[in-house]
Amino acid sequence: MKRREIFAGNWKMYTTHAEAMDLARGIIGGMGNMGTREVVLFPPSLHVRDVVNLCKGTPVSVGVQNMYFEKEGAFTGEISPAMVKDAGARFCLIGHSERRHVFGETDGQVNKKVLAGLEWGLEPMVCVGELLEERESGRGESVVRSQIEGAFVGLAGHRMKTIVIAYEPVWAIGTGKVATPEMAEAMHCVIRDVLAGLFGGEIAGSTPILYGGSVKPDNIKGLFGMANIDGVLVGGASLKAPSFLDIVRVG
Ligand code: PGA
Repeated sequence: MKRREIFAGNWKMYTTHAEAMDLARGIIGGMGNMGTREVVLFPPSLHVRDVVNLCKGTPVSVGVQNMYFEKEGAFTGEISPAMVKDAGARFCLIGHSERRHVFGETDGQVNKKVLAGLEWGLEPMVCVGELLEERESGRGESVVRSQIEGAFVGLAGHRMKTIVIAYEPVWAIGTGKVATPEMAEAMHCVIRDVLAGLFGGEIAGSTPILYGGSVKPDNIKGLFGMANIDGVLVGGASLKAPSFLDIVRVG
């Protein structure tokens, strides 16, 4: 089955406004013809509206790195899905490992954010991944299984159409330790198996699953060559237009 192919850049808490504009311009300017390949940028939320404006009329989409699940209210410091929509973003990254492990985000909160994102017409990119000690103690697969099950509680199958999943082993994020293509492929198959159990084979087979964790121009080929890896979520290497473009082109 032909699935969407998505190359996403997570800028995390990097870039001044001027740097963000330069980076977005560099990426847009160097893209060339990407065919059906999709490119998504996740700038810091303060820059989202302006990056959206720069990307208008280009094949590049924009998303936020996180958001709260309520529409509005006394939630100091948070941004709402309504605001994200109003800023023109299309995607919302949900449950990134830094949200889970630095800010204590739970599967229950991830689930509420997924439902809220869909409610507001956003496309959730849901991140899952195991810690090193979980993998080493043989629990990697069950951790990822329960993160997937937890993220999609209460979701009707037809609402999976705009969901993207990113498998990011925590031990590979920002460490330079990339999972081998075979390790990543094996976990992507586990994720498809969970999706098949929850929603049936068709949805399991059509949901894009990206890999993330120390993706670089020199390891993209092997990863993207695997049958169940439909693209990548790139952190560090997405902060320079040339290296991000090399990843998008080579993949
Ligand atoms: P990295 O980050 O590419 O720097 O490892 C990936 C991510 O956190 O999405």
